[in-house]
Amino acid sequence: MTDKRARLTVDGLEAPIDLAIHSSSVGPDVIDVSGLTKKGYFTYDPGFMSTAPCESKITYIDGGKGVLLHRGYPIDQLAEHSDYMEVCYLLLNGELPTDAQKKAFSDAVMANAKVDPSVANLIKSFARDAHPMAIMGSAINALAAVYNNDIDISKEEDRLQTAYRLIGQVPTLAAMAYKHSKGEAFIEPDASLSYAENFLHMTFGKAGEKPNVKPVLAKAVDRLFILHADHEQNASTSTVRLSGSSGTNPFAAIAAGVATLWGPAHGGANEAVLNMLDEVGSVENIDKYVAKAKDKADPFRLMGFGHRVYKNFDPRAKVMKVACDEVLVELGKEDEPLLDIAKRLEKIALEDDYFIQKKLYPNVDFYSGIIMKAMEIPTEMFTVMFTLGRAVGWYSHWNEMVSAPYKIGRPRQLYTGYTQRDYPQK
Ligand code: CMC
Repeated sequence: MTDKRARLTVDGLEAPIDLAIHSSSVGPDVIDVSGLTKKGYFTYDPGFMSTAPCESKITYIDGGKGVLLHRGYPIDQLAEHSDYMEVCYLLLNGELPTDAQKKAFSDAVMANAKVDPSVANLIKSFARDAHPMAIMGSAINALAAVYNNDIDISKEEDRLQTAYRLIGQVPTLAAMAYKHSKGEAFIEPDASLSYAENFLHMTFGKAGEKPNVKPVLAKAVDRLFILHADHEQNASTSTVRLSGSSGTNPFAAIAAGVATLWGPAHGGANEAVLNMLDEVGSVENIDKYVAKAKDKADPFRLMGFGHRVYKNFDPRAKVMKVACDEVLVELGKEDEPLLDIAKRLEKIALEDDYFIQKKLYPNVDFYSGIIMKAMEIPTEMFTVMFTLGRAVGWYSHWNEMVSAPYKIGRPRQLYTGYTQRDYPQK
């Protein structure tokens, strides 16, 4: 709380409404409007353009300056010097681990990577062409069935065990969803591998064969997970918090987040980028599609461009672009025709007045889509990859919320429908 107060003058009210201002450690302070309802008013903010529904200590974004900090550490430094397990520990616990803490954490995650047979059977019951995000949502929800009697959310040790289970099993579920689509046997997790190696082995390896994961791919996937690990109160994280605020099982709350992430305006954008590049088809068509994106009457948007919060550049995209260039060279894929379209599209959008005026820059999904395509990860798995990285962010926010007193999330509305009327008598 600061000494500063806000005063809201409302026509018809004798005195202004006095509102407290809470101070942030960095970034905008917030005006506390929670008492307004007693004065007979709600606030109106569709799309939550100016609304902070919670206090948090996990992640800070300055969209104007292109800053993203996890527990104070800049994302580019984490992407360069850290690894995903360490970032998971940091997000969950607030501090970087010692070597011993990191090993214990990583061991506990890997020791919990095996999925219950009931969930494996559920995955097998899906159609082969089911979208893997549909499978992920259902399978994570099914973990709530497996562990429902095993979680007391008021107990810290239960919440910690749940974190190990979630972070450990999400890659196993993703790999199973992929293997099922191919009609191939599932591969058991291998605790001797790193988190990213294990995921790649379970997904692209062959059952019964020794793990054989290219280090360049494992490194790229680990970095991809770091870059997606958390992003403060985005749509899916807010969904997890809102869902969790009812006291529901954390796996159920996270499954709600998976559903939200799937949408093309959010995590589904990486898949949509590739579908768009396919649709553009060749560099000769680029102008036509850029014109479509600028046409207000046309719903087409350039996928992978623009962001609600970043109005300068997306710092994740900056790191991802460098990683993308590196991976393309290492894999000898700089000359792929689709990548050529992507690079030209990026150049045009960065130089075009429409995109400059509206501050539409390539976002993380633009480059992550390209990188995953180069790694031959199937397009429909792209949003699943985002899910794997983001699981820890969702969990950290849920855990932060339930570790302190919290209220059920219950927004109000501006009602503009009928006033009361009588049912017609026949
Ligand atoms: N292509 C063309 N025009 C666009 C685009 C785009 N990708 N994005 C925004 N605009 C225009 C939009 O038409 C609007 O124009 P006007 O002011 O004339 O009505 C203006 O820019 C502002 O757009 P908005 O939809 O009001 O902005 P928003 O903050 O509500 O939406 C967004 C942000 C990310 C949903 C949007 O930019 C978009 O749909 N981008 C494409 C999808 C995408 O790449 N999403 C991934 C986001 S990053 C990953 C993540 O963190 O989830």
